[in-house]
This record gives sequence, C-alpha cells and structure tokens, in this order.
Amino acid sequence: MLKFHNLHWNVVGPQFIPLHQFSESAYEGFFESYDAVAELIKMRGLFPVGSLKDILAISTIKELENKSFSTSEMLAIMKEDFTALIALATQIRKEADEANDFTVVATMEDEIAKYEKHIWFITSMQG
Ligand SMILES: [Fe+2]
Repeated sequence: MLKFHNLHWNVVGPQFIPLHQFSESAYEGFFESYDAVAELIKMRGLFPVGSLKDILAISTIKELENKSFSTSEMLAIMKEDFTALIALATQIRKEADEANDFTVVATMEDEIAKYEKHIWFITSMQG
C-alpha cells in the first residue's frame, strides 16, 4: 500500500492525473484485500502479520526510493507488482483448493481477476 502511495505522490509527466487516480484506486483495493485476507487468517485461528517490521521481513515486493517516477517507470513497476501478486494468489489458491478451503479459493480468484484487469489497463496505457 505504501509503495503505491509513493508512486501516487511522485509520478511526474503528462499522464499524471490518470496515474495519480489509478494508483489511488489500486492502494484502496490493497487496503480492502489486506483486511479481508487478515480476517480469513483470524477465522482459521492464526495471527495475521500486524507489524511493519515483520511485513518487511517476509515481503517479496521490492521497496522504492523516495524520488520522482516517470509515467513509463511507474507503469512498469505496477505491472511487475500485479504480476507478482497474481503468481502469489495463484499459489495460495492452489494450496487452498488442495485443503478444500473454498472461501480462500474464491477470495484468491477475485484477487487474480482484479489484478488481471489492472494489468490490462496498464498494458493499454503502455501502447
Ligand atoms: Fe492522494
């Protein structure tokens, strides 16, 4: 979420307004997913990761510097992250399916559909 805020604040270029708005809708979506997935974890008697230090330790998403990003840099970064999220969600969906956990399967399918649509938007903007 914070990474996409960084892009939201620091993108520069002629596509600033649509990319500023797109990154905002993306991080709002992350916030909803973050809470929904944490609640699924709680319902299974486990503890979601609730500290930034622990999140950083297990995250596979690369951090960004605090600097300006061109629109093409931003699109490439977002595409890479959405692609990585699809791969992660696909793996979780597979494991959940093997465990007959259909709620997690459905949640991951929704996540994948959302990220596929984001990638379509990005690819269309890249021309
Ligand atoms: Fe904002």
